[in-house]
Amino acid sequence: MRGSWRVTAAAVAVAVTMAGCGSSSGSGDALTLYNAQHEDLIKAMVEGFTKETGIKVNLRSGKDFELANQIVQEGDASPADVFVTENSPAMSLVDSKGRFTKVDDATLAQVPSQYSPSSGNWVGFAARSTVFAYNSKQLTGDQLPKSIMDIQDPRWEGKIGVAAAGADFQAIVSAVLETTGEDATKQWLAALKKNAKIYPGNIAVMKAVNSGEIQAGVIYHYYWYKDRAESGANSKDTELKFFADSDPGAFLSVSGAGVVKASKKQAEAQKLVKYLTSRNGQQILSDSKALEYSIAKDATPNSKLKPLSELKPPAIDVAKLNGPKVVELMQQAGLI
Ligand SMILES: [Fe+2]
Repeated sequence: MRGSWRVTAAAVAVAVTMAGCGSSSGSGDALTLYNAQHEDLIKAMVEGFTKETGIKVNLRSGKDFELANQIVQEGDASPADVFVTENSPAMSLVDSKGRFTKVDDATLAQVPSQYSPSSGNWVGFAARSTVFAYNSKQLTGDQLPKSIMDIQDPRWEGKIGVAAAGADFQAIVSAVLETTGEDATKQWLAALKKNAKIYPGNIAVMKAVNSGEIQAGVIYHYYWYKDRAESGANSKDTELKFFADSDPGAFLSVSGAGVVKASKKQAEAQKLVKYLTSRNGQQILSDSKALEYSIAKDATPNSKLKPLSELKPPAIDVAKLNGPKVVELMQQAGLI
C-alpha cells in the first residue's frame, strides 16, 4: 500500500484558471472542475483528491448560475467534467436540462439522503445555515423577529440588509418560495423592497450590521464564524439568531457536486465526486477555515460551529428549489 503513495509535487499542484477564460488549458489528462464554491475550500479539497489519486484537476471558478448556464449552453461540447456549486438551485438547473450523469450509488450512500435529489444526478457535500445577524448594541433578543417572514413588518424599514443579487440569498428566497408558496413570497419580496438595503455580498451586509448602519441582515452562518475566527473586526458588535421550528429562515442551503454528462472522463469525474463526500474529503472541509458544515454520514463538522443536530431547518426537497422562478419574482419585486 505504502509504496503506491509516492506522489510528485507536480501531481499535487492544482492549476487555477480564472473564470471567463474560455480556452482549454491543454492540461492533458487533468479533470476540469467548474467551481462555483469558495475557491479556497475547493482548492484544499482538490489537493487532497490529487494526493490520494494522482489525478490532477484544473479549476475554473465562477458563480452558481453563470457556470450552470455555461454548462447548459456548451452542451455536449462542454469541457467541464465535474460541477460544484455553493447552492443547490444551480445544480437543479443543470439537472433539469439533462446535463448530468447519475452519481455512483456508493457515493450517494456516503451522504444522508435529504442532501441529494431523488434523481441521484448530483450529491450534496456541504451545508450552510441561514442566520439573522444583528447588531447587539442596537437590538436585544426579545426585539428579534420570530420568523424570517416577519422582516416584512414596517418596523424594519431601512433597518435590514440583504445581498439580493447573490446566489446565496436567492437560495434562501427559493426556500421561502418552496415553504410558503408564491403569493406569500411575492408579498414578502415586495415588503423587502421597502425595508431592505441591498448590499453587494454577505460580508458587506455583516459589516453594515456591525457598524450600525443597519440593525440586522440575512446571511449564511460561515461569514460570521470566519470573521470571528480571524480578527472579529467585522462581527464584534454582531450576534447571530438561528431561526427555529422549521422556519424558512432556518433554511440549510446544500452545496452540490455532479458529473457533467459531456465529460469524456466519466470514471475519474465520478472519483472526484466520491472523494468530495468521502471521509478524507469531508475532513478537509471540517478542518478548513471555510466553516461550512460537512454533511457526509461519517463526517464530524467543525466543533466551533453550532452543532448541525441543533439546527431546525424546514424539510425541503432539494430538487424542488427553483432558481429561475426566484429570479423572476425578485425582478418583479424590483430587488434585482
Ligand atoms: Fe458564500
